Amino acid sequence: MKQKIFRIKRLKSKRKLICLTAYSRPISKILDKFCDIILVGDSVATAFYGMKNTKSIGMDTMINHSLAVKRGIKKSALVIDMPVNTYRNFKQAKKNAKKIFKIVRCDAIKIESNGKNFNIIRHLVKSGIPVMGHIGFTPQYNRKFKPHGLKKIEEKKLIEESKQIEKAGAFSIVLECIAEKTAKKITKIINIPTIGIGSSKFCDGQILVTDDLIGLSGFYPKFVKKYLNLQKILEKGIRRFKDDVIKGKFPKKINTY
Ligand code: KIV
Repeated sequence: MKQKIFRIKRLKSKRKLICLTAYSRPISKILDKFCDIILVGDSVATAFYGMKNTKSIGMDTMINHSLAVKRGIKKSALVIDMPVNTYRNFKQAKKNAKKIFKIVRCDAIKIESNGKNFNIIRHLVKSGIPVMGHIGFTPQYNRKFKPHGLKKIEEKKLIEESKQIEKAGAFSIVLECIAEKTAKKITKIINIPTIGIGSSKFCDGQILVTDDLIGLSGFYPKFVKKYLNLQKILEKGIRRFKDDVIKGKFPKKINTY
């Protein structure tokens, strides 16, 4: 399991890392052909369940989706988000992270930074749990969606935060919605891969919420590129099914026993 994590660390500056989110087996099976990392993000709350934010998702839901995702993966590293309030102190963080590892047999967990939880990361890494950090816009702690690191003072804080996370032993960091100049500096300064979402092409890798990329989420901020309009494709197919049923064209003889 740790081999996948070492490989990802070694890929810094060699080639771009490809990362996407998955919440189900059919999607992870497709992503596995293309991705270095598949993340079961707590964005499952908003993108899959239609909740208002990511704060209502708990351990059991994350574990159930992670088990489904794991069944579709052969080669990518599987990273799982620790839900909010499940890593408030060492004891709780270790207990919950170990539970996720034991049940899912994933490769790493991800922890959003609140600017203070470096010691939690250090403690988990020391306990043998690979950790991915997450700075900039962190939905578990920030209410308002806005870019980070545009001001000098913010940039300084983010650079310091990324250094602390690296020092704590994280194997990579997600940079979410961070100004290009700041993301570029962080990527240059730290020795672990930076995975950007809305943080410019200068990161070591890119991640998007798959539902945004395929046009299923209805949430398209500036940093998302909709590569596919799956909603339209699905609607087309389902409309044809409806028409066929109404006109008596489905089921046909070949669909009947
Ligand atoms: O929850 C999530 O999907 C994430 C990604 C946006 C990085 O944290």
